[in-house]
Amino acid sequence: MRKDKVTVTKIVGMKSEGERIAALTAYDFITAKILDEVGIDLILVGDSVGTVVAGYDTTLPVTMDQMIYHTAIVSRAVRRALVVGDMPFMSYQASVEDALRNAGRFLKDGGAEAVKLEGGAEFAETVRRIVASGIPVMGHLGLTPQSVHKFGGYKLQAVTEEAAQKLLRDAKALEEAGVFSIVLEKVPQEIARRVTLEVSVPTIGIGAGPYCDGQILVTHDMLGLFEKFRPKFVRRYAELGKLAKEACSNYLTDVKGGRFPSEEESYSAYESDREDS
Ligand code: KIV
Repeated sequence: MRKDKVTVTKIVGMKSEGERIAALTAYDFITAKILDEVGIDLILVGDSVGTVVAGYDTTLPVTMDQMIYHTAIVSRAVRRALVVGDMPFMSYQASVEDALRNAGRFLKDGGAEAVKLEGGAEFAETVRRIVASGIPVMGHLGLTPQSVHKFGGYKLQAVTEEAAQKLLRDAKALEEAGVFSIVLEKVPQEIARRVTLEVSVPTIGIGAGPYCDGQILVTHDMLGLFEKFRPKFVRRYAELGKLAKEACSNYLTDVKGGRFPSEEESYSAYESDREDS
């Protein structure tokens, strides 16, 4: 193992050392390689692949086979970051046995080093059993997208005192069950701060304000590649969607106008054995 390899132990230790955890999602080789090379600590192969790559309206249709396919691709690209596979809808809800078998596939077939699942106290036993089998688990509370129909949309969560107390209880139940970190999605910053102060494992926020121990965004959102909806917590670090449209449109114009390919971009009979690098 590389000396600077990010492990679960390292992620947990970052909280006590006060070092913020930077996490992003990836589903393909090139993106995963870029994130790893710039030093992102944790790469989540999120089931958001269903909405930002596969074109579904929700993450619900994503299957285990699809997740394993993407996780294996990402794992092949990553040298340093911790790779976490996201357990898709109904891969862990029906039984603990299902959960164990499917979590195991992420490590055996996908090359992941940990799994993430959505839900609180009601999944504590599932988390305990997965962790007991040697698989690190990341929790996910607040707006858990697999429950979109229960919530009636992608709404801000934990807004009442009662809901905030439940979130806190869920976070403690997950901590006790052995998670190594907890994603907090779309909850008020004050609540995320309370959870962060009251649990010993790192919290990783997405739309949860600045007080979490780390932050995660969907890479396609922050690069401006996914334009379907734009929550206020997404900071656009680039406008790659616009750039790509411009480039493709220029290519179209060049081909139609006979300006591509040029003489330099074409082979002649005398250089037939030349190899491109
Ligand atoms: O699927 C995903 O990308 C996620 C992140 C938003 C945390 O669960």
